[in-house]
Amino acid sequence: MKKEDPIGIFDSGIGGLTVARSVKDALPNEQLIYFGDTEHLPYGDKSTAAIQAFSVKICDLLLKKGCKVILIACNSASVAAYDLIKEYVASKALVINVIDPMVNYASEYLKDQNIGLIGTRQTVASGVYQEKISEKMNGLKLQALATPLLVPMIEEGFVFNNISHDIISNYLSMPELKDIDALLLACTHYPLIQKEINDFYKSNVKVINSADPVALSLKNLLESKSLLNESPADEDSFYVSDYTASFERSTKLFFGEKIKLESYRLWS
Ligand code: DGL
Repeated sequence: MKKEDPIGIFDSGIGGLTVARSVKDALPNEQLIYFGDTEHLPYGDKSTAAIQAFSVKICDLLLKKGCKVILIACNSASVAAYDLIKEYVASKALVINVIDPMVNYASEYLKDQNIGLIGTRQTVASGVYQEKISEKMNGLKLQALATPLLVPMIEEGFVFNNISHDIISNYLSMPELKDIDALLLACTHYPLIQKEINDFYKSNVKVINSADPVALSLKNLLESKSLLNESPADEDSFYVSDYTASFERSTKLFFGEKIKLESYRLWS
């Protein structure tokens, strides 16, 4: 691994771009290689074995591109495949997930609060946040709700309209999320509707996403391994397993008009 090697980031679709943007802002000298597995989206409703198979294939590409770090910018893949990927990648690259930085953030800044969480079925059913947070915050109970309609809605660009308003209000009014002080967005797609979520709560609930905590923890990791790139990086690259115009639009929105988006089939 060398300082100038790129950082590989992947998600099922556009959600991981929220994390990639924060990484770029925190580490402007780093070159990013982003992969959105749009062919297999949504991950949140897939089996663990399927998500593991997709993740391994994506890691093959990112390793071939010489990435020094693989950042799993997807909660569902972090749940299903983090341990496997760490083993698979071994000493060829560092591996980081989106769950641990959010858990550390919650245990530092949300003491004595009623914490709610929304995420995909895969993430919520795993109970991983509950387990990790209660380890750090002595038995704290997390109120979690799976919100599977949100990812397809966001990928379709169905946001900031009547339909998204109704779906979001419906989910956030469910008894599972009653009387919370803070809400963790345990899916990297959800920051794209964070404003609608804030509007629902009229800013009475603190809504937290993982993008900045993840970028910070990546920065600390690279610093500790003396792997921060000191000179300006080469151009970022973006790949999708199934090209869609809406993915291209979102990527441009996050990274500017000049980005290069290429198709790459995981199984050719
Ligand atoms: N953005 C992802 C997550 O954080 C994946 C969502 C999905 O594909 O279902 O879980």
